[in-house]
Amino acid sequence: MNLMNNKSNSDFILSHPSLTLFNNEIHSYIESLSVIQSKWSSSIIESIKYSLFSGGKRFRPLLGLFLAQDLNCDCQKLIPWLMAVEMVHTYSLIHDDLPIMDNDDYRRGKPTNHKVFGESIALLAGDALASEPFYIIAKKYESTPNIALTLIQELALAMGVNGMVKGQSIDMMSKVNPLTESETLEMHKLKTGALIKVTLFGSALILGVDTDKLITFKLLGEIIGLSFQIKDDLLDSTDHIEVGSLPCLIGSNLTEKLLTQLTNDGLNLLEKIDLKSSLLHQLLVYNHTRSH
Ligand code: IPE
Ligand code: IPE
Ligand code: MG
Ligand code: MG
Repeated sequence: MNLMNNKSNSDFILSHPSLTLFNNEIHSYIESLSVIQSKWSSSIIESIKYSLFSGGKRFRPLLGLFLAQDLNCDCQKLIPWLMAVEMVHTYSLIHDDLPIMDNDDYRRGKPTNHKVFGESIALLAGDALASEPFYIIAKKYESTPNIALTLIQELALAMGVNGMVKGQSIDMMSKVNPLTESETLEMHKLKTGALIKVTLFGSALILGVDTDKLITFKLLGEIIGLSFQIKDDLLDSTDHIEVGSLPCLIGSNLTEKLLTQLTNDGLNLLEKIDLKSSLLHQLLVYNHTRSH
């Protein structure tokens, strides 16, 4: 498998036309929320918009959009689900940057939400972006209640005390209790992997993928989720190796090897389900080579 640095792959992914549709839809949805805004709610809406439209890669929505195209399905019915997931992701970043968490001043090269809107509005924007998704799913999939119910259950699990929140708690506690390699991998699976995994699973479910194949998409989602965070650790270690990070625990070379191994595992799984030459294949290669 050629996993060498490939700029054209990256340009292709980040400017894919399906993203324009997604961005327009999520933009309209947020605008529809601001129709009912009053002088009291304008800052919260501005704060939400600031973080939702500040240059995120949209990696999670792309998983669903590409799966739909790979399966020759209309992606329109996935859009509410993908909006929901991107909102959850955005909430997690706003809270993650708060002084009480990572205390970061910049994200995506711009001042963090709390630097612009203040800590209380940033906290509340995060809260709104964590609750609105459940309304969206319940409302937009109400004609298929079994699907809506599964999406709500799985998303809540992925976000909650045994998912992303657990991963973030382990990360916070690791500052006083350093983690082993396996604990670090577990934390990665939870804090970043859980949401990526549920995105792919939920997308496959909405697109009507057979039950026996859904398990493969869960496994694939888990592999992609873990490799996404491992790549993040490698990118974070380019200037200096952060204490407690995977490159610090096992070295950059072994971390690179692990990423390549996981990427190849994912590509092999895709081959098994007849998606060898797929957009999802290109997305996995993109993650391996991405520069931010
Ligand atoms: C960054 O996620 C934080 C992690 C969960 C690793 P992304 O790299 O997907 O963030 P954006 O949305 O593209 O900025
Ligand atoms: C972010 O993790 C993960 C979540 C927000 C769930 P990090 O703290 O490691 O990522 P960055 O460096 O802020 O993007
Ligand atoms: Mg963090
Ligand atoms: Mg952080």
